Amino acid sequence: MNSATVMQDSRRHRKPSGCSVLSRPRPVTRREFGKAGLLAAASAAAWPVGAFGAESPPRRIRTGVIGCGSVSNAYLPVLTKSPFVEVVSLCDIKPERARRQAERFKIAHCYPHIDEMLAGEPFEFMVNLTDMQEHERLNRRALEAGKHVWSEKPIANSLSAGQELLRLAKSRNLRLWGAPITVQSPQFAFMARQLAAGKLGRVAAAHADYGHEGPTWSAFFYEKLGGSMPDLAVYNLTTLTGLLGPAKHVVAMLSIVTPERVVDDKGRIKVTEEDNAMVLLDHGNGVISHVQSGFNYFNPHGHEGHEETRYTVSVVGSAGFMGLVGYDWEPLGVDIATKESPKPTRYATDAQGYIWQQGAALAAECLATGKELLVTPEHALHVLEIITAARESSATGRRIALTSTFKWPIVV
Ligand SMILES: NC(=O)c1ccc[n+]([C@@H]2O[C@H](COP(=O)([O-])OP(=O)(O)OC[C@H]3O[C@@H](n4cnc5c(N)ncnc54)[C@H](O)[C@@H]3O)[C@@H](O)[C@H]2O)c1
Repeated sequence: MNSATVMQDSRRHRKPSGCSVLSRPRPVTRREFGKAGLLAAASAAAWPVGAFGAESPPRRIRTGVIGCGSVSNAYLPVLTKSPFVEVVSLCDIKPERARRQAERFKIAHCYPHIDEMLAGEPFEFMVNLTDMQEHERLNRRALEAGKHVWSEKPIANSLSAGQELLRLAKSRNLRLWGAPITVQSPQFAFMARQLAAGKLGRVAAAHADYGHEGPTWSAFFYEKLGGSMPDLAVYNLTTLTGLLGPAKHVVAMLSIVTPERVVDDKGRIKVTEEDNAMVLLDHGNGVISHVQSGFNYFNPHGHEGHEETRYTVSVVGSAGFMGLVGYDWEPLGVDIATKESPKPTRYATDAQGYIWQQGAALAAECLATGKELLVTPEHALHVLEIITAARESSATGRRIALTSTFKWPIVV
């Protein structure tokens, strides 16, 4: 066997009821995983020599994935190729979805309820890809059962509940992480370093936006605790607080532009959460930023990120301008214009293996190797507080002071 080949776990799998067990996946090579690995993504230190040697294949984290809907089609190809992951279980309250993905990705065990998954085939890491409203409850169940957790956004429904989850995790020596991972991209690192080096002079303002015509498959995006902020603005809020520092105050206006929609799972529904959001952030020191998101934005590219080539994040200061080309979750480069060099010049066009779908695989890599991500639960909780504060501001017309913070700068 090639020394760069990751050995497969030869453990025999029991066949649970309702799941088809097909042949095991083929081995993943270092070259293949390196394209999407933590170190490439974070442009950090070099891989330790021998980590992939035939004598020392990386520890594979036994993983259970809950929620087998749309986004599982993006996560499972990455997780099942990662040399740090062995996906042992799938779970969905719509059991046919778990069964379908189990067959497609050759995963041995599937369950219709979290309690059955937790009591079934042993695993140590749960990846939560369920409805936004379910994350808090399911994350808590998993932590209580002694599992590390990667959660799609949001980690919880409120700052206090999220902080409680983090306390629970820490008290049990468990890890808790939440999407998105925009701060892992080399474009984010490039922008952060330009700001830290003072390339834009005195930073004054920033803008970011993300919208499309809204998901058509599930009602939860439009129901209580859903909305365009936790689904879309969350990316821009993570990026801008990551670049400019934790926010101190929030002012927002939110609205519902389309009060009724037709979605695949429930037919005609009432939209009760904002599908149109304008959020202003005060980062202190005079720096103000603006994030807008919505489910009523004509978008010729739909959900296809790589076709977007306009700036969706821009930062301006007294001596320069910087624009992120494409979306912050799938960036294509960064343009900079400064007083010294006023013609915009493009940098950071190489993704270096970063893809937005790799968060849970990177978290498993951390569990296996002891390395750290730039993504932190404290940052995710700060963004969650901004979202709930924006709701309060819009409802009351007040400027809302924030209480949470996170370790910043992220990239040094
Ligand atoms: N779809 C995307 O492209 C995309 C991209 C990035 C992030 N996300 C995020 O991923 C999450 C899921 O979104 P989606 O588009 O995949 O939704 P979806 O409706 O397609 O899938 C959610 C799945 O979770 C299952 N589920 C709900 N409650 C459950 C429970 N208690 N136990 C087990 N299974 C449960 C549902 O039956 C469904 O199959 C959301 O937080 C969303 O914001 C989605």
